[in-house]
Amino acid sequence: MENIHIPVLMDPVMELLDIRPEHSYADLTAGDGGHTAEIAERLKGGLLISFDRDISALERAQARLSAFGDRIKFVHDNFKNLPAVLDRMEVTSLDGILVDLGISRYQLTTAERGFSIMNDGPLDMRMDRGQKKSAADLVNGLSAKELETILKEYGEERFARRISEAIVDRRRSGLFKTTAELAQLASRVKPKIPAYKKGIHPATQTFQALRIAVNRELEDLGVFCSKAIDRLAEGGRLLVITFHSLEDRIIKRRFQLEAGRCICFRPADMCTCHRIKRIDILTKKPIIPDEDEVRNNPAARSAKLRAVKRVKPSGKRGEVR
Ligand SMILES: C[S@@+](CC[C@H](N)C(=O)[O-])C[C@H]1O[C@@H](n2cnc3c(N)ncnc32)[C@H](O)[C@@H]1O
Repeated sequence: MENIHIPVLMDPVMELLDIRPEHSYADLTAGDGGHTAEIAERLKGGLLISFDRDISALERAQARLSAFGDRIKFVHDNFKNLPAVLDRMEVTSLDGILVDLGISRYQLTTAERGFSIMNDGPLDMRMDRGQKKSAADLVNGLSAKELETILKEYGEERFARRISEAIVDRRRSGLFKTTAELAQLASRVKPKIPAYKKGIHPATQTFQALRIAVNRELEDLGVFCSKAIDRLAEGGRLLVITFHSLEDRIIKRRFQLEAGRCICFRPADMCTCHRIKRIDILTKKPIIPDEDEVRNNPAARSAKLRAVKRVKPSGKRGEVR
């Protein structure tokens, strides 16, 4: 098997999950199964559910981890459907949930999946190829304004307008089909990159933005965290690894809200936060990879791990959702 994903932050993940061999765990982003395997190694008779919305990724993980037999229950679904899947499996609560967001090395480097700036392939970017809209549909179908909003919001791209207008202009002579066509356009219309930023391809933010939009990666991410916390047993842990500031901000704020803190920053009598504490935050600051890990696996460089522990609810106002 080629292009195996190197799991990030393995030691802190295992320490914070604090696995007890007879308990129940879910790895919601199987990828190549690196974290799933480490959890499975530590279980004796417990339950391990491993999700991925990408059937090819899930099949690779299943093949790699076949030695564990039916100790791992693989689920092809979006992790946002966790509550329904647990209901179907008649699992009431979990003791640990891991979410390692983003895409795997296999997805990134397989040209046909269309995530890669460097390896030319169809402009696809769907994690789940059963989804209707691919990156080509967005690039060829949206207005310049809509594209600009996506590039600005999901890519934090300074030259969003310039790129979007160039995309719409270029469509007049033919629709976009490949990743190389889009990468070349971003390189052409963006100002030359200053020397200190060399090494980052000019299309990086455009590709990140489209990937997030195609897969609706940020949609309901905060709500999902609350639903995952609903399903944790007391003392159970939720760990989330993010790879860019947009995701990390959503996770951080949701954890603060669920820890009973105000995140609306209005005066106390106007605060709309529920102020019910359901978790303890275990990572005051996010855990990041050390120099050795980044040297061995440069893809880990922007990883941030946040972890919380479910506690008995306490607080003054509202109901626990
Ligand atoms: C960074 S990789 C995970 C790598 C994995 N931890 C390992 O050790 O190999 C992220 C994986 O999560 C999957 N994924 C991303 N968002 C998902 C979602 N909403 N539901 C299910 N799977 C998702 C992707 O398809 C990808 O395979």
